[in-house]
Amino acid sequence: MTERTFVMLKPSALERGLVGEIVGRFERKGLKLVTVKTVAMTRSQAEELYSVHRGKHFFDDLVSRINGRKVVVMVLEGRSAVSVVRRLIGATDPVNAEPGTIRGDLGLDLTDNLVHASDSEESFRRECSIFFPAYELG
Ligand code: CMP
Repeated sequence: MTERTFVMLKPSALERGLVGEIVGRFERKGLKLVTVKTVAMTRSQAEELYSVHRGKHFFDDLVSRINGRKVVVMVLEGRSAVSVVRRLIGATDPVNAEPGTIRGDLGLDLTDNLVHASDSEESFRRECSIFFPAYELG
């Protein structure tokens, strides 16, 4: 089934010049870029993006480490896009991510683990609406 997913490239992906490498992996897999832009993350955007983690021991660190920094946000489309993108990204902790995945090949830091992607259709709708007004989604 063709579906859409939300992806955010975290600050280290921009700072290390890995945007083309990561987006290229999505494109080579066959996913289409619906829309993409760079934003400086605000505290309220970060708190909303990570609201499911509120109360966990890593929440404050997660928000403060991304607040005010540049990220790339995008919407990708393709067959089973939500699960395909999660598999391309790999396990949350790059130490455990399989070689061949984005986190497995390119990262080591758990909090700044290069990429965030929606884990369901419901989180796609919520996360996407934090950064994109409907008219930007075609
Ligand atoms: P992400 O996919 O962006 O979703 C939540 C983020 O919390 C996760 O990637 C990690 O960057 C971060 N995080 C930090 N510590 C932990 C932890 N102990 N368990 C899970 N996620 C963590």
